[in-house]
Amino acid sequence: MEQAPVLLLWVAALSRSNTIAKQAGGNAEIHDYLATVDATLAAQNAAIAAESMGLGFVYIGAMRNQSREIEELIGLPDYSYVTFGMVVGKPDLSHLSAIRPRPNQKVVLHYNNYDTVNSLEALDTYEESFQQFRKEQKMKDKKWKKDVAYTANSLDYMHERQNLRITVEEKGFKLK
Ligand SMILES: Cc1cc2nc3c(=O)[nH]c(=O)nc-3n(C[C@H](O)[C@H](O)[C@H](O)COP(=O)(O)O)c2cc1C
Repeated sequence: MEQAPVLLLWVAALSRSNTIAKQAGGNAEIHDYLATVDATLAAQNAAIAAESMGLGFVYIGAMRNQSREIEELIGLPDYSYVTFGMVVGKPDLSHLSAIRPRPNQKVVLHYNNYDTVNSLEALDTYEESFQQFRKEQKMKDKKWKKDVAYTANSLDYMHERQNLRITVEEKGFKLK
């Protein structure tokens, strides 16, 4: 983030519609139901466009960690919140990386019914390819399953993100 020339903040911005709806005499009750999808879709399209121009990017979910500070910093109006950030820049070609292997299709692709048993079993082979990849990339040793457990079992990982709900409610959203 410190090196990137641009940090884009993707804002779920219902503030304009909220003002217009209230000026028309309503209570904008639809805005009690949070909408994040539009901002996310727009960001992913921007990501694809950036890549097509030879740029690189990293999503920054950590932008939600200190949400109140961020919103004060950029002066966000009510009925708006920062969903996540995205740094964009020129990839450092002296540090070429590769695409991390993904769990195989049996894990993520289901036909007609969600198959919890087979999809978990199919994950058994993933640990090995995950670790092999990290070795090739000279990344520090990490166990995939252990990491999944760590990121779910300890609030340490959240770095204050657990307070996001409070900030979002202060912005007027009812999170219904
Ligand atoms: C929703 C989302 C949020 C992310 N947030 C951060 C972040 O806060 N900081 C960071 O360094 N990388 C962040 N990343 C990037 C990932 O850590 C990772 O570098 C990226 O997903 C590509 O790596 P992979 O191919 O191993 O998934 C985020 C990625 C996603 C999809």
